[in-house]
Amino acid sequence: MVLILALPPAALNGQQAQPASSRYQAPVLSGSDTSKLKGARQPIFFRHDIHAGQDQIPCMYCHYSASISSEPGIPSLQTCIGCHQLIGGSTPSHQAEIKKVRDAWRERKPPEWIRVHALPGFVRFPHMRHIKALGTGACVTCHGDVQKQAQVSQVSTLRMGWCVRCHMAQKPPVTRDCSVCHY
Ligand code: HEC
Ligand code: HEC
Ligand code: HEC
Ligand code: HEC
Ligand code: HEC
Repeated sequence: MVLILALPPAALNGQQAQPASSRYQAPVLSGSDTSKLKGARQPIFFRHDIHAGQDQIPCMYCHYSASISSEPGIPSLQTCIGCHQLIGGSTPSHQAEIKKVRDAWRERKPPEWIRVHALPGFVRFPHMRHIKALGTGACVTCHGDVQKQAQVSQVSTLRMGWCVRCHMAQKPPVTRDCSVCHY
C-alpha cells in the first residue's frame, strides 16, 4: 500500500497539497456538469483528472494488466475501496459520487462502465506488445492526456491508417502484414 502512503497527506483530506504552480489542479465540477463533457457519461463520475492528474496515481496502478494482456482492463471495485473506505470526498459532489462507489461495494454490484475505445471484432490489438515496445508512459501517445480529462473520450481515430502509419514510422518498421492485425 505504498501508493496510498505516497499520496500527499493533504490529498487525503482533499486540500491542495502544493502550490498550484507546481501541481496540476483539476477543475471543480459537479456530477451534473458531465453532460457538457466529451465522451460517454459513466454510471459514476470517476475523474481521471483528479486521480491520475492531481493525485498522480500511475495509470498502471489501476490498468495493471496493460503490460501483460491484450486488454488493459477496467479496475475492480476492490482497487477503489482501499482508498475510498478512508477518503469520503472534500465537496458535496465528490461525496455523492464516492457514496455510489461505497454502495456498489456493499451491494456487490460493480458499476457498468461504458466502453469508450472499441475496435471491430476482426482486429487484433495486443496492448502488452505496445507497452513493452513503447513504454508504460506511451498511453498518452494513443489516448491523449487522459490525466487531464474529467471524463474519458477518444482522441485518436483508431482507424487502420493510424495504426499502419505508426508501424511504418518505427525503426525498423513493424510489419504491415494483413494477418498480423486481422483474424
Ligand atoms: C484510480 C484508478 C485509475 C487510474 C489511476 C487510471 N484509470 Fe483509466 N480508468 C479507470 C476506470 C474506473 C475507468 C472506467 C470509467 C471511465 O471510463 O472513466 C477507466 C477508463 C479508462 C479509459 C477508457 C477505457 C475505454 O472504455 O475505452 C482509458 C483510455 C484509460 N482509463 C486510460 C488511463 C490512463 C492513460 C491513465 C493514466 C494517465 C489512467 N487511465 C489512470 C480507472 C483508472
Ligand atoms: C490511491 C487512492 C485512490 C484510489 C485507488 C481511488 N481513488 Fe477515488 N479519489 C481519491 C482521492 C484522493 C480523491 C479526491 C477526494 C476529494 O478531494 O474529494 C478521489 C475522488 C474520487 C471521486 C470523487 C471525484 C471524482 O472523481 O468525481 C470518485 C467518484 C472516486 N474517487 C471514485 C473512485 C473509483 C471508482 C476508484 C476505483 C476505480 C477510485 N476512486 C480509486 C483517491 C483514490
Ligand atoms: C499504440 C496505441 C495504444 C497505447 C500505447 C495504449 N493504448 Fe489503450 N487502447 C488502444 C486501442 C486501439 C484500444 C481499443 C482496443 C480494442 O478495442 O481492442 C485501447 C483500449 C484501452 C482501454 C479499454 C480496454 C478495456 O479493457 O476496456 C483502456 C483502459 C486502455 N486502452 C488503457 C491504456 C493504458 C493505461 C495505456 C498505457 C499503459 C494504454 N492504453 C496504451 C491503443 C493504445
Ligand atoms: C497495423 C494493423 C493493421 C494492418 C497491418 C492491416 N489492418 Fe486492416 N484494419 C485495421 C483496423 C484497426 C481496422 C478497423 C478500423 C478501420 O476500419 O479503419 C481495419 C479495417 C480493415 C477493413 C475494413 C474496412 C472498413 O471500412 O470496414 C479491411 C477490408 C481491412 N482492414 C483490410 C486490410 C488488408 C487487406 C490489410 C493488408 C494489406 C490490412 N487490413 C492490414 C488494422 C490493420
Ligand atoms: C504509436 C505507434 C503505434 C500505433 C498507433 C499502433 N501500433 Fe501496433 N505496434 C507498434 C510497435 C512499436 C509494435 C512492435 C512491438 C514489438 O516489437 O513487439 C507494434 C506491434 C503490433 C502488433 C504485433 C506485431 C507482431 O509482429 O506480432 C500488432 C498486432 C499491432 N501492433 C496492431 C496494431 C493495431 C491494430 C493498431 C491500431 C488500432 C496499432 N497496432 C497501432 C506501434 C504502434
